[in-house]
Amino acid sequence: MSSVSADLDEKLWVSFVEKKKILKKSKVFEQVLSLIVPVQIQKIRCLGLGAVTDSSLAMYQLCLLSLLVDHFKEVKEREELEVSLWDPIFTEEDKKFISDRLKYVILEDNDDKKAVKNTLFYMPHFPIEVLEKFITETEPEYLLSNDLTVYTNKFTDTKFFQLYPNSARMAKIITEQEEKIKGTGVLSKALDNDEFHIVTKKKQRKGKNTIKYTPAVVDYKFESAFFRKIVMERVTEGNILSNVWDSAFTDLSFLHISP
Ligand SMILES: C[S@@+](CC[C@H](N)C(=O)[O-])C[C@H]1O[C@@H](n2cnc3c(N)ncnc32)[C@H](O)[C@@H]1O
Repeated sequence: MSSVSADLDEKLWVSFVEKKKILKKSKVFEQVLSLIVPVQIQKIRCLGLGAVTDSSLAMYQLCLLSLLVDHFKEVKEREELEVSLWDPIFTEEDKKFISDRLKYVILEDNDDKKAVKNTLFYMPHFPIEVLEKFITETEPEYLLSNDLTVYTNKFTDTKFFQLYPNSARMAKIITEQEEKIKGTGVLSKALDNDEFHIVTKKKQRKGKNTIKYTPAVVDYKFESAFFRKIVMERVTEGNILSNVWDSAFTDLSFLHISP
């Protein structure tokens, strides 16, 4: 190792140790742990972490991974826990730091695509198009990743389903469950031309136009999905932006996907 990369490696290590110490005492870690702990985890696969050599958000996300690994190893006595990571953006220094210092595996392809049982996929802020492809191909059981309901504010139901069918189905199941729990069936989405058909009432009062909006009905074709049941818990603590880790854990949620 050249002295330049040795210096960088040492700097990364100091930063990692310091950030991990801060995060260990945080409510965000406490909340994530409370969601994950009841689950039987044998592997953790982290995708889309970003470059720790370049981003403190990625470094905080790596610290959270490391805290979860520690917990599973120490408290749950799971020495055999396999941890692998991949992000195409990883530099040689990122890879070296992760594999030499933390002893996690850098693995581009997970050949064992269907062996997903008891694997926690940790994918903070994963791009939705890649997430959709991943969900469809891998059929994961446990995901610590994006809150899928966030996209219902970005796209109309029709567009969301057209672009990302499995993510849209999951978001639909989650929002319906949440509306049921709240005891409302009320649509909170802003009116959108793509989403709502305008129906003009034939009988008009004193020449006034009375316009009624009805939502376009999306056929989600749930019968063709690999899942039937979704349980999603939000990491609400991650949305508090006044912490030193800033937006590292925003819109994070834990999903349990069952057939
Ligand atoms: C929005 S960034 C998030 C980075 C970091 N986790 C954060 O929150 O700042 C998305 C990351 O996903 C990575 N990515 C894109 N396609 C990927 C793939 N197929 N497998 C793994 N990572 C991927 C990108 O390189 C990028 O680093």
